[in-house]
Amino acid sequence: FEHRALTGRHVLITAGPTQENIDPVRYITNHSSGKMGFALAEAAVEAGAKVTLITGPVHLPTPDRVNRIDVVSARDMLAACEVAMPCDLLIAAAAVADYRPEVVAQHKMKKDPTSGEGLLLQLVRNPDILATLAGRPDRPFSVGFAAETENLLEYASRKLRDKNLDLIVANDVANPTIGFNSEENAITVIDRDLAQTSFAQTSKGKIARQLVAFIADRLNQA
Ligand code: C5P
Repeated sequence: FEHRALTGRHVLITAGPTQENIDPVRYITNHSSGKMGFALAEAAVEAGAKVTLITGPVHLPTPDRVNRIDVVSARDMLAACEVAMPCDLLIAAAAVADYRPEVVAQHKMKKDPTSGEGLLLQLVRNPDILATLAGRPDRPFSVGFAAETENLLEYASRKLRDKNLDLIVANDVANPTIGFNSEENAITVIDRDLAQTSFAQTSKGKIARQLVAFIADRLNQA
């Protein structure tokens, strides 16, 4: 029996985008390949964890020994997470759509042939999956991501506090060589004391292993 940093721990990871239907053929979504979340799932398995990976629509193979659950919308993702709870560690890497259309049309919406006017789509807020799970009495050690294009560390610190997280991983998505669809990432982790730890740009696989080791260390101290 080999003891690794996450042996005996249940780790829940969200990944990928969510899709929010407008009608049977259209949806709104976010940019997200799912690569970072999948790399984290693989790294957590290597660290000895039992891993549940809840993912929106992505084109990625399931890492070995990972329990993968596919979902489409933010509400589906929250429901799947609630079924998968409890867990010791939650890493929310999904790019969840903040809003969804208030009503989903039953049939494909047609263009109005009598007018060149635009279309108004009424949107409503989606639940915040991470804040919901981090707010439960059985809350796991909770790690969020903040993908920002400006004021990165300030917005990230605010999210850490507002969502009641243990750690937040900030990444600058204005830089095209990291984040979103890229193969590499560079991150800064912020803790509750607002202490920052930076990880230099490298492949998402390497960043994932470094990040999982860092998180496991903090979890095991908690
Ligand atoms: O507020 P923002 O969307 O920037 O927060 C990002 C973090 O919150 C990510 O960890 C993301 O996975 C999580 N999140 C979530 N549910 C939402 C929105 C964001 O879990 N509805």
